[in-house]
Amino acid sequence: MQIYPRSYQDSSASNDGVGDLRGIISRLGYLKGEKDSLGIDAIWLSPIFTSPMHDFGYDVSDYKEIDPLFGTMQDFDDLLREAHARDIRVMLDFVPNHTSSEHQWFIEACKSRTNPYRDYYIFRDARPDGSPPNNWLSVFGGSAWQWHEQTKQYYLHSFLSQQPDLNWQNTAVQQAMADVLRFWFGKGVDGIRADAIRWMGKNIDLLDDPINSAFTAGQDPYHAVEHRYSRFSPELNGYLKIMTDVAREHDDKILIFEDHLDSLSPVESQIRRINSIDPEVAGAFNFEAMHRQFSARSFSEMINRYQAYLPAQARAFYCFSNHDESRLASRFGEKQARMLAVLQLTLPGTPVLYYGQEIGMRDGVISPEEVQDPFEKRVPNKGLGRDPARTPMQWSDEPMAGFTKLNRSWLPVNSDYVANNVRLQQHSNNSLLSLHKTLFNLRKQHHVLLHGEFKHLQTTSDIFMFERKGEERFIVVCNFSEQTAHVLLPHNLDCEAHVVAAAHNAAMVGEKVRDSVTLEALEALVLAC
Ligand code: GLC
Repeated sequence: MQIYPRSYQDSSASNDGVGDLRGIISRLGYLKGEKDSLGIDAIWLSPIFTSPMHDFGYDVSDYKEIDPLFGTMQDFDDLLREAHARDIRVMLDFVPNHTSSEHQWFIEACKSRTNPYRDYYIFRDARPDGSPPNNWLSVFGGSAWQWHEQTKQYYLHSFLSQQPDLNWQNTAVQQAMADVLRFWFGKGVDGIRADAIRWMGKNIDLLDDPINSAFTAGQDPYHAVEHRYSRFSPELNGYLKIMTDVAREHDDKILIFEDHLDSLSPVESQIRRINSIDPEVAGAFNFEAMHRQFSARSFSEMINRYQAYLPAQARAFYCFSNHDESRLASRFGEKQARMLAVLQLTLPGTPVLYYGQEIGMRDGVISPEEVQDPFEKRVPNKGLGRDPARTPMQWSDEPMAGFTKLNRSWLPVNSDYVANNVRLQQHSNNSLLSLHKTLFNLRKQHHVLLHGEFKHLQTTSDIFMFERKGEERFIVVCNFSEQTAHVLLPHNLDCEAHVVAAAHNAAMVGEKVRDSVTLEALEALVLAC
């Protein structure tokens, strides 16, 4: 479960309208270890390190310290201990591509062209006309180069100008960053989510990116060029291997690389590329569901292809929503979100959920005065802003949804919190929260759902059906249509199955099924053979 610390729980000690580590500790029982707990196995926290917060923590100024906004190192140690006591693993967010411009390395690097830290970053002369060294663009709008007046050179920033890119060709950078990982693994952190990795590898000659001829005005301006040289240089896998090697120095650690498929190279090689570095300790998210059309054919194609190309020992990390994208229930609809819960939690590997996904939280409505996200501020009114997906967790119908005792929060609490919150859903057997508990339980009791074979059974315009096989056998049938569907089960089923989970109609649980099954609109059933 991904936790966005700013929005999870404000502790009464700080009570400043921003979530913090003590707040998370106070909610661990919700996640695991108590009678009504959700039953998740691990949390990953978006960055909690010292930061001027231009990109809400993805601009780190000290990788080995906790930002006072979130608490102290003691709070973190307590969180780690309390989480482990409940058998919850803790993963942190590591930002290897860039530091904050307030990081000591960058402050040094800016002092002179000969400063020992100059080569930690990517400084280059202007072109003869004074313009930036090449046409590379920043993800957050405009050129990826910022002029540094004092030393009369540009520096590269793939994101904000307050997020200068590190120079991973420099072995001192490699060692310093490996050392950061060692520090956190040494403390007992179980895993790392590594941010924005594709930008770590760039072409050494800094060639211009080709113009994207398919680009149209109105699109995200970042796509005006094809990012051929500004990312994914051949050295990238070597840099990632440095990270997996550090993970290997310790027992039982994992790394998840933040990456996604794009149209620049064949999907097969993209899936293999990062998932092959050291599949026992590291894998990559699969974010495809966030940009897919909601249809049986689309989801079936995406999953079949991914499972087929994933290297033998690699683990899938299906992730259907996160802090950068619209929430699942807003993107596809509430009923659809229930169906996708069944799908996501019966797929192989480790499903990654985003806080609030388990209650179907929706995107918040953010007025222009309330905008916080630097992306929305720099590239406004294109629907790119990430604030709507980052509103405070909706715990109860108390004021401020139980998120803070203050009467305001860093982003507004979504107005639907009275009708949709954890407490309400805890009291209903048929809530999305209860469905998640059922599915988590099922995964726990039946390892075949984690490690068993994935076999495609059928795809039609409405239905996606697959099987999970091993020491046991489950069939998952998803009806993506708004109509009732009668589905013939494979004739070699050769067993009497029964329903163990249903996205909508809980009354079907326990029902016996032999040759066919009827699914209401947007229903998904898990059948045990
Ligand atoms: C990743 C993060 C995003 C952040 C960016 C820069 O894409 O998920 O939130 O803004 O990297 O670090």
